[in-house]
This record gives sequence, structure tokens and C-alpha cells, in this order.
Amino acid sequence: MRHPKSILILTGAGISAESGVDTFRDKDGIWSKYDYRDVATPEGFARNPKLVYDFYNMRRRGVAKVKPNAAHDALARLEREFSGEVLIVTQNIDNLHERAGSRNLIHMHGELESALCKVCECRSYWADDMEQGSACPACGTVGYLRPDIVWFGEMPYQMDRIHHALANCDLFLSIGTSGNVYPAAGFVDYARAHDVHTVELNLEPSEGHSVFNDAIHGKATKIVPEYVDRILMGL
Ligand code: OAD
Repeated sequence: MRHPKSILILTGAGISAESGVDTFRDKDGIWSKYDYRDVATPEGFARNPKLVYDFYNMRRRGVAKVKPNAAHDALARLEREFSGEVLIVTQNIDNLHERAGSRNLIHMHGELESALCKVCECRSYWADDMEQGSACPACGTVGYLRPDIVWFGEMPYQMDRIHHALANCDLFLSIGTSGNVYPAAGFVDYARAHDVHTVELNLEPSEGHSVFNDAIHGKATKIVPEYVDRILMGL
């Protein structure tokens, strides 16, 4: 491919795995221990809010203890040193991309360090445990705060901006995602329909690996810094 001018990077749980954050669908992943219907749907939250608060409190505390790895660092370096535009769209709710230094970043599935108020609909920074009696920092209402996570059946954030960026980039990288969850799993088709060159970087071939123009398989901390070096050297 020609030297790209604009790069869109989709990341998933695999990029944070070597930092010590569990993935979802690998052996011993989060969905082998929890039923997603209990902790990642509005219906599960309505049924048992305490279980859901506890689940995200545990994950928020866990992420505070880990650090960005060489793959996060490499993507932050790419954003700093690349002459064109770099946009990261992450499905991850951890904050490892921003802690590594990435700034042009969309958390399409929400963020662990954010609270969503069902009364005023404000999204507020939230670093502590959350519980039924927590008050919204914006309107002060108690009892209507939820983790600011996009659950199954809900619409991910900033989809218009993501589709516009996908249609207008010339390189799409998909890093550390199994390609099981839509709409993110459909980004590769959307990009290809707009003549974007598409590359998968993942531990193993994902669900939709055959749709990509190229694929590189291995651990993110190895293959992502190597690929970033290639881009910065002109591919
Ligand atoms: P998955 O757990 O489905 O997939 C993680 C992918 O990362 C797998 O394909 C692994 O092979 C790969 N992987 C594991 N370790 C890796 C490493 N060291 N280097 C590179 N790749 C590695 O996670 P996601 O695809 O992110 O949504 O899952 C998508 C969504 O499903 C999540 O955002 C979450 C989940 O349900 C919600 O909770 C709404």
C-alpha cells in the first residue's frame, strides 16, 4: 500500500492483556466467570444492581493497579510522530491508552472511570467505588447513577464520527479484538467498502480475519511496536 495519510485503529481487550487485564472470550476470560446478561445488560442491572456495581468496582480497582504496555506506548508514539492523523477507537473501558499518552481517542463502549446519571444524563468523572446510594456529581440526585458502560443492546458512543473517520482514512488497523461484537466487528467491511487498506494485528486469526487485506499474528507487545516502526519508516 501507499504511505497512509490517515489511520484509524480499533483496539480490543487483547491490547491490554499483557498489562494484566483479562480478555472476555479467551480461556479463563471474563465471560467464562460471569454471564454477560447479568453484568452487561440494562436488564441485568435492573434485576441486580449490586452485582453490577460490584463487578465494575472490581474492574475499576483492578485497572488502577496495572500499567500501559509496549503496545499502548507504541500507539501513543505513532500519534505523536506520524505526519497525518491517528484516531484510536477502543472497545476497552480501561484507561491504558490515555495513560500511555494517546489523546485522539474514542471509548466506544464507555469508560470505567465515568458515571452516567439516568436523571440528567450527564457523564461525570468517577474514580471511586459506585453503589446504589451514590450521588450524581452533576445534578446531585441519589440512586440513579450507573457505570458509564455501553451494555449489550445499547448504542455505542460516537458512531457517526467513527463511520465518517472510517470512510475517510486510508489505513484501518484492528488490534487485539476477536471480532465477535457488532458494530465494531463490522468496521472492517465498512472500511473495505471505502477502499481502505485493512490490517489485523492479533494473537490469533479473529472471527473475520479473512476479510482483512493483511494479518499479522502474535503478541501485541511485539507486533504492534514493530508495525508502528514500519509505518513511521514509510511502510
Ligand atoms: P475478546 O476477549 O472477545 O477478544 C480478545 C482478542 O484478543 C482475542 O482474539 C485474543 O486472541 C486476542 N489476544 C489475547 N491476548 C493477546 C495479546 N497478548 N496480544 C494480541 N492479541 C491478544 O475481547 P474484545 O474483542 O475486545 O463489550 O471484546 C469485544 C467486546 O466484547 C468488549 O468490549 C466487551 C465484550 O463483551 C462489552 O462488555 C459491551
